Amino acid sequence: MSQQELESLDVEAIREEFPILQREFDGQQVVYLDNAATTQTPDSVVDAMSDYYREYNANVHRGIHHLSQEASLAYEQAHDRVADFIGADGREEVVFTKNTTESENLVAYSWGLNELGPGDTIVLTEMEHHASLVTWQQIGERTGADVEYIRVDETGRLDMDHARELIDDDTAIVSAVHVSNTLGTVNPVGELTDLAHECDAFSFIDGAQAVPNRPVDVTEIGADFYAFSGHKMAGPTGIGVLYGKQELLEAMEPYLYGGGMIRKVTFEESTWGDLPWKFEPGTPPIAEAVGLHTAIDWLEEIGMDRIQAHEEEMARYAYDQLEAEDDVEIYGPEPGPDRGGLVSFNLADVHAHDLTSILNDYAVAVRAGDHCTQPLHDKLGVPASTRASFYVYNTREEVEQLVAALEDARELFA
Ligand SMILES: Cc1ncc(COP(=O)(O)O)c(C=O)c1O
Repeated sequence: MSQQELESLDVEAIREEFPILQREFDGQQVVYLDNAATTQTPDSVVDAMSDYYREYNANVHRGIHHLSQEASLAYEQAHDRVADFIGADGREEVVFTKNTTESENLVAYSWGLNELGPGDTIVLTEMEHHASLVTWQQIGERTGADVEYIRVDETGRLDMDHARELIDDDTAIVSAVHVSNTLGTVNPVGELTDLAHECDAFSFIDGAQAVPNRPVDVTEIGADFYAFSGHKMAGPTGIGVLYGKQELLEAMEPYLYGGGMIRKVTFEESTWGDLPWKFEPGTPPIAEAVGLHTAIDWLEEIGMDRIQAHEEEMARYAYDQLEAEDDVEIYGPEPGPDRGGLVSFNLADVHAHDLTSILNDYAVAVRAGDHCTQPLHDKLGVPASTRASFYVYNTREEVEQLVAALEDARELFA
């Protein structure tokens, strides 16, 4: 894509697809900068889900009537669409879960509990989201495997020398976040996967903050497992994805049991159905799958390259303005190819919650807290930070509104 094409995004037209962005609080239009927590949903996704409920709502896989056939087809096609979007080999490699957190737990329980033991190590990074960190910590406690952390250096990047030291023949799995939801760092997940494979270990990549806003090809990365959530990519809540290499998913035991995932059941024993259904027991998120399918169509229509370029531009604009203030501390790398579309910061010694509450008075929606990265915040030496995170519908004017509101907050706390 040429530079001109990358810059040709019609943000105003895109915004029209999101009525929620017109909402006002106390006469001020909302400035929604909490996209790393959840993104807004375009009309086409809402319409697709309501069409499902209005026109072909039925349970999948079990019915031979017309409605069930239509619902089943749509549900299966959603898997194909996701597979195509992330470069997987086919629907067998795409399991629908509730969210990224459940995808992490699926692998941790299904593979980790069965395969790990004393002497094994699980290698994480210091910037893992709790979805990964807490889950693998638990698996370590239950199996006797050690959990080790690749250091984050003072620039907010992974210390890859330390990664090379830690990943060795004892390593069973390397679980790393693709784009940090706190630092914005884009990690070299292909390189981490290669290091894992050199030691016959697996790699699990948490792509919750990557898939929504950059082209991701799981085959190119080489990841064994890759996870993300629908609600962070213009899709609905209640649906997440676990990508897994087919031979690994084939070999793994199910994590949840019940209807829809079996081949044959007798009073004595049961056998499991084909992938991916083996990992999707019970009634799955059918309307959500339809919504996710439409969200992917919507994203690709705009183009993932353009979405990435726009978000990086927003983040750079915010970073530069915040950087210019002496009393603002920003976390994570400087804008560049290894920084994604979010900026976490603190204003002098104002607590992030107080600051965020003042920003809310200006209808500026940002997030305060540890962003589910408590150990990383401990390392940064702060209890919390304020995070502004951008998406394809944000504008430079909104960044300016954030900075202006910050100015007023500064005066209030002076
Ligand atoms: C990097 C990262 N991983 C995992 C998650 C968990 O996502 P979910 O709450 O959809 O399971 C998040 C959510 O903020 C995240 O940012």
